[in-house]
Amino acid sequence: MLTTFLLFTISFGCKKQSYGNADNFYKDDIPFTDLINGHDWQHFSGATVKPEGILIQALNRGIVPKIRVPGETAIEQEKEPLTKNPPYNLQGPYLKVQGDFLLVATVTPPSEKGALIYFCGQLPDIYDEWKQEGKSIAIGIKNQLLQLIIHDGTSIIPKTAAFIGSLQNVQLAIKRSGNKIEWYVNNIFAGNFEDTYNIFGEGKIYFGAEAEAGSSFLLNALVVKPVNLLSKVEVVDNKICTISALSNTLRSTANLLPRPIHIGTAVAVNPLMTDTLYARTVASQYSMVTPENDMKFQFIHPQPNIYAFAEADAIVDFARQNKIAVHGHTLAWHEAIPQWVSAMENDPAKITAIFRDHIITVTSHYKGKITEWDVVNEPVRDLNMDENAGLRGSSPWFKAMGEEYIDIAFNLVHNIDPAAKLYINEYGVEELDETDPDNKCNVLYRLVKRLQKRHVPIHGIAFQVHEDMGKGKTPVTPDALARTMKKFTDLGLEVRVSEMDVSLHGTETAPLLSRQAAYYKAILAVCMANPKCSGFSTWGFTDRYSSLGWRDNETGKVNYGNGLPFDERSQPKEAYYALLSQLKGSR
Ligand code: XIL
Repeated sequence: MLTTFLLFTISFGCKKQSYGNADNFYKDDIPFTDLINGHDWQHFSGATVKPEGILIQALNRGIVPKIRVPGETAIEQEKEPLTKNPPYNLQGPYLKVQGDFLLVATVTPPSEKGALIYFCGQLPDIYDEWKQEGKSIAIGIKNQLLQLIIHDGTSIIPKTAAFIGSLQNVQLAIKRSGNKIEWYVNNIFAGNFEDTYNIFGEGKIYFGAEAEAGSSFLLNALVVKPVNLLSKVEVVDNKICTISALSNTLRSTANLLPRPIHIGTAVAVNPLMTDTLYARTVASQYSMVTPENDMKFQFIHPQPNIYAFAEADAIVDFARQNKIAVHGHTLAWHEAIPQWVSAMENDPAKITAIFRDHIITVTSHYKGKITEWDVVNEPVRDLNMDENAGLRGSSPWFKAMGEEYIDIAFNLVHNIDPAAKLYINEYGVEELDETDPDNKCNVLYRLVKRLQKRHVPIHGIAFQVHEDMGKGKTPVTPDALARTMKKFTDLGLEVRVSEMDVSLHGTETAPLLSRQAAYYKAILAVCMANPKCSGFSTWGFTDRYSSLGWRDNETGKVNYGNGLPFDERSQPKEAYYALLSQLKGSR
């Protein structure tokens, strides 16, 4: 048990402590730097800037873990404990540190609820069913007890619980002193640990804050200083960057085609805002981005009436500044649904109202900024196609509204943002077999015809093309995909490749990489050959942040999946050059 209990009482009363106080441990000649005034805290989900500090409202945002239901690949998620997903101020100040430093946060805690400040040395990788923990120290208060939580890159280690009592202003400090990290409450030493995890080893510190569910607190002040003359602390204001256009890239080459198409990738906000190579590659290589997870329900609408737009906004703003189109993902999906919605599953009227409110709020927020929306995601079931005309009956939206949820969603979005092209996005529908009623694509095809008959404003079908070159797997042939696409474009629709990746399961051999490259090229060729194929997107571009990647928490070994055109160091692979050569028209 790593938790230690340090019990002591602090009797500082309610008066705010001043940092320069001569009789406290902050005493030296090195001044503090303010991290709030003059810095951006407006683009921070859950935060409101007030004259007296930053009001932190609880998002209670979490990731619902995925569970497979026997007999169906559908997913029920609502009963498992949430993985916490607190926000970071990615568009605000961060620190570059060398040596030893002291960080002091002053908070006005709620009397009975929790307040946490995160000092993050390495951001987590956020997926939609799990998260790869980053490295951080969270310090705060819960029920008048001091909280210290270490994230060491894999696990969460609660360190101390010391009694603080009821104070109006509490100074919570973290000090790095050699390889030790110490923490203080109102100038009093409260504990330390040997930092074997090297939490701040990358030399950067990002800030996060989280109030306990249903509450809020004030972050009155946040200051930093180096603690000796050999150490350095630099405050950097993180901004969305504009990257100058390059020639001879996927993007510039696709633009020169007689019929230009969008070349896209899914993106995640953490690397986009903190990994320069990632951001530069997106802006120079791609003309369309799809937020990988940041627009999904549990991310953007974590609680009733609480929307967390900052992360998706950063992606949209980045795209606009770099003249990249945004493919919105996604409004009506049976996954990534927060537990507060799942809890209402037996009340169709409530679910319908939430559904409408969600779609209206999100599409109004992004009106005019989204080129295409995946309005409905993965509506077709995988098995038992005779039930619900093959549609996914486990979806809470289907349960509440039947097939009509699809009509409602498309009509709402079209009324709000008539310029946006509206898509159904689906996996496993790359090969149409009209003779087989159980064929997943055939179910989709029949659905589309019904929607068209009902004049539902649907403009396109997105084929995910998640393929696998592992043992015993046969990816769809380019010819079959071309035939399927034509069937849908013959209905007057557009099509696109929306989420391509080609998993090698970590087995990287030269012949496999060449096969993968040739396959990417052939699928891009299919899109280029159909005049109504609007774009070709991969699901991420670098193996470093691929949704095919995973980390073995026992060995600490990272497996990258090897499914994307750039490797885990974000360097182009054979697949990248194959895509480029396809765009250039060479064989
Ligand atoms: C994936 C994300 O990439 C992962 O981070 C997450 O863990 C699961 O979802 N079809 C979709 C995407 O429409 O939203 C999915 O994205 C991949 C399958």
